[in-house]
Amino acid sequence: MNSAGRIAVLASGRGSNFEALCTSDLGGASVVLLASDNPSSGAMLKARRLGVESIPFDPGPGRSRVSPEAEKSLADLLVSKSVDLVCLAGFMRVLGGALLESFAGRILNIHPSLLPAFPGLHAQAQAVAHGVKVSGCTVHYVDSGTDTGPIVLQAAVPVLGSDTADSLAERILQEEHRILPEAVRLHLGCRIRIDGRIVKSRIPDGPA
Ligand code: GRF
Repeated sequence: MNSAGRIAVLASGRGSNFEALCTSDLGGASVVLLASDNPSSGAMLKARRLGVESIPFDPGPGRSRVSPEAEKSLADLLVSKSVDLVCLAGFMRVLGGALLESFAGRILNIHPSLLPAFPGLHAQAQAVAHGVKVSGCTVHYVDSGTDTGPIVLQAAVPVLGSDTADSLAERILQEEHRILPEAVRLHLGCRIRIDGRIVKSRIPDGPA
């Protein structure tokens, strides 16, 4: 199913998932805006190179959250830009208020582990330290918790005996670049719906 859709990406760092979204087939949708809490992030540089509008914003004084005022301004901005879907792609802060209200069920996050294992920071290092044999990545809808929202897609990646956090992260990243655009296509193509904390496919034999 084809769908026009306007996507905003929030990113704090390197921006490879942002770039994957910009360069992937999103079924007719496109990335119209990058907002970053880090004006000198790689994501901001990539946005300028790719010709995507980029807006730095001040998240306020907290280290891991966005202040209520900043979140309200951001939500107002995204509403004013007629954004349909928000993607958190390496956005290192927890949302708690206005954005979740304005975009309920319309915010996706990519996380580098098979949730609910290893939420939070340094997920790949957590996986290596724990000795799991399989890790991977997860796209989920965002709620007010840390990496707790309904799961849309996951991809498994074997953990090798020789892996460091960095080598595992590199292989997981390849899968992130694949499943985040796929989740966007599923969402904007109206091929999934959220039922409690379960994301259900609207098509027979679709993802569980
Ligand atoms: C990715 O591993 C993502 O899953 C995590 O932070 C990293 C961001 O990478 N949340 P990039 O900025 O998209 O390259």
